Amino acid sequence: MSLPDALPSPLQPRPVSRPAPPAQPSATVGRRASLRVRVLGVVVAINAAAAVVAGTVVVHNARVAAEREMTASVEMAERMVRETAERMAEAPEAGGPAAGELANWPVHLRHLRHVRIVIEDAQGRPIPLKPSGSREQDDGDAGAPAWFAHLVGVSEVARDIEVRINGARFGRVRVAGVPDDEVDEVWEDVSDFAVVAIAVNAAILLALYVALGRVRSDLGRFRNALGELEQNRFSCRVDLPRTRELAEVAERFNELAAALAAARAENDRLNAHLVTLQEDERRQIASELHDELGPLMFGLKAGAESLARAAAEAEGPAKARIADRTHGLVGIVERMQATNRRLLRRIRPAALDLLSLREAISSLLADFRQHDPSRTFLLAAGPLAAHYCAARDATLYRCVQEAVTNALKHGDARAIEVEIGEVAGAAGPEGGVLLRLVVTDDGPGPPDRIVEGLGLAGMRERVRALGGTFRFERGPKGGARFVAEISVPPPS
Ligand SMILES: Nc1ncnc2c1ncn2[C@@H]1O[C@H](COP(=O)(O)OP(=O)(O)OP(=O)(O)O)[C@@H](O)[C@H]1O
Ligand SMILES: [Mg+2]
Repeated sequence: MSLPDALPSPLQPRPVSRPAPPAQPSATVGRRASLRVRVLGVVVAINAAAAVVAGTVVVHNARVAAEREMTASVEMAERMVRETAERMAEAPEAGGPAAGELANWPVHLRHLRHVRIVIEDAQGRPIPLKPSGSREQDDGDAGAPAWFAHLVGVSEVARDIEVRINGARFGRVRVAGVPDDEVDEVWEDVSDFAVVAIAVNAAILLALYVALGRVRSDLGRFRNALGELEQNRFSCRVDLPRTRELAEVAERFNELAAALAAARAENDRLNAHLVTLQEDERRQIASELHDELGPLMFGLKAGAESLARAAAEAEGPAKARIADRTHGLVGIVERMQATNRRLLRRIRPAALDLLSLREAISSLLADFRQHDPSRTFLLAAGPLAAHYCAARDATLYRCVQEAVTNALKHGDARAIEVEIGEVAGAAGPEGGVLLRLVVTDDGPGPPDRIVEGLGLAGMRERVRALGGTFRFERGPKGGARFVAEISVPPPS
């Protein structure tokens, strides 16, 4: 319902201040992932994909290598077993193994790498091998977990060798490939590599997290600075970030802020000049109306009155008609004089030439009070200088006049309060003062749909021409409230 001061205007300088932008991002922006989350997410996803690809390659290579190694070992073991079996078959009496002595199978064959030897007697029963006397070698490693061995999935390689003595079947030796050692080795390599890869990745992610945090805080400074610009505080500057690209953007931003500040100063100067010229012209027109038209109308009225008097003394049939016309003439001139006075008051309030701003507004309210003593017109004036240049004085005076008239006309208000004064500590960074005018009434408040007349539009034009802001809204107690703020730069 409030009338924002962002409506187009030919005199449009940017307003001094507007409602602060939200400190938090909007709901739409807030739902989006932050730069840090996005980049870290992408890096983690790429690393995870690389780990899957590397894992697949490693598993495949491990399978191929294990199968190759196992096949070679099984073939070698098969050769050795066959040789041993042939030796046993040829020299059974020379102290070779008799039935049941297969358990004494040569020790070196029992411990072949990548190979498991299983010996069966003629009936196919496995023969337990006698202890070799030397302890099984155990390097103390835990070995690959079952799931990894399962993943590598080396296919089985086995050979069966018949042992015959004197032509009779004596037993059977089964040589089967055992991929465990190979898989264990690969697992050892993979787990060492995985530890290093995880450590490197963690370091990369940590470094990225810190670097992106810096970028985020740099971008946060840009966001705050843009908010300052939005608030028309063009003196804001961004410290140059350490990253070159961001530093370049910051430099351009600072140049832009400086250019905006210069344009704003020039705009303010031109607008103030324009309003001052307007006021001068109004004053000139007022004095012409007063000094030229006033005496002419006075003369016209005096002439008409003397004509009326002459007609009263004259004789003849035209006497009544002349008296009637001259009376009408006097009436017209009186209306012209009244119009002229009203025009004069509207164009240039004489009070401003004679009184201080506070006294002029007080006298304006006294006039309203005099016309309608049943209503309350209250003036709460804060610290105020006697004058703030003709344009500002006239603007504030006119705004009070129109706002009070509107309160009576549209709100039928019983009580109207005018607050005016300098706002402590609200001046811009360049110094100076901020003048605030608030007119509140106890009427029904503005309608839902405001159809603007000349009053609100004129006030807005004037206030904004001076670089100020203008608001017309519902007050806290329900009536209408008009607020204008105009900054007064320090004397140069
Ligand atoms: N104090 C108020 N209380 C309620 N409504 C208001 C008040 N002031 C203004 N309005 C609303 O805003 C509208 C526009 O006001 P504005 O002063 O621009 O025009 P106007 O007073 O109708 O005509 P003009 O000022 O040109 O003689 C009014 O028609 C009215 O609906
Ligand atoms: Mg009005």
